[in-house]
Amino acid sequence: MKGKQVLLTGGTGGLGLGVTPTVLAQGGEVTIPYRSPKDVERLKGVISPADFARIQFIQADLGEEAAVANIVSRMGRVDVLIHLVGGFSMGKTHEYSYSDWQQQLDLNLNTTFLTCKYSLKSMVENGYGRIVTVGARAGVEPGGLLAAYSTAKAGVIALTKAIANETKGTNITANIVLPSTIDTPINREAMGAENADKWVKPESIGQVICFLASEAAKDIRGAAIPVYGSC
Ligand SMILES: NC(=O)c1ccc[n+]([C@@H]2O[C@H](COP(=O)([O-])OP(=O)(O)OC[C@H]3O[C@@H](n4cnc5c(N)ncnc54)[C@H](OP(=O)(O)O)[C@@H]3O)[C@@H](O)[C@H]2O)c1
Repeated sequence: MKGKQVLLTGGTGGLGLGVTPTVLAQGGEVTIPYRSPKDVERLKGVISPADFARIQFIQADLGEEAAVANIVSRMGRVDVLIHLVGGFSMGKTHEYSYSDWQQQLDLNLNTTFLTCKYSLKSMVENGYGRIVTVGARAGVEPGGLLAAYSTAKAGVIALTKAIANETKGTNITANIVLPSTIDTPINREAMGAENADKWVKPESIGQVICFLASEAAKDIRGAAIPVYGSC
């Protein structure tokens, strides 16, 4: 990714703690939108000061179209989009509120649409692009209590595959990784650390993402890659 402009969303989140150092090691110019300054400080703790200084941080809500357009315009161009933003919520369908349903679609699917839309505009203009989105195992194996999350992630898979078809015949690709449970601080807090060795490591997902985001992966289009570790 040397010399490439990389938009890395969710780079300060739990998965980002492993993906961001992996992406930085590839030598790109990395921009990370964030909402919580506390998470930026947490990321600072896991990367070298020199690498940290290479990141352009932009405070923004990726649910707002104007904010996404502004990020891409400040970057000048986007060569690589790695969209990690997303999140999880559980509940029985008959008890699940409509606002929680909408929130899941906004967080997982609509942020993906907006970042893909504005990154793609730039990629189409420049004739080069790599898009890597993040789904979840639940997007292909919908679980009970997970209707909203599973539906939103199935939508992210469909969106990514549609973009891959739309960009056939160009040097722009789109692919998606499907993690199962990831070894993140939030999961350790919620489920205990006893089973954490079975969960897939953020760095490991980072390696898969970085390959899909590389020039070498030019012939991989519309792949939905399971990254389940030993789960
Ligand atoms: N954790 C798992 O076990 C697991 C399993 C399968 C798939 N995944 C997927 O992996 C991805 C990363 O998950 P994670 O565990 O790293 O979640 P996380 O720790 O909650 O991180 C999510 C990141 O997205 C950012 N974000 C959320 N909404 C945003 C918005 N509107 N605008 C800008 N930034 C926003 C958050 O920033 P703020 O905190 O500042 O809002 C945070 O940096 C998600 O797509 C998730 O669905 C996770």
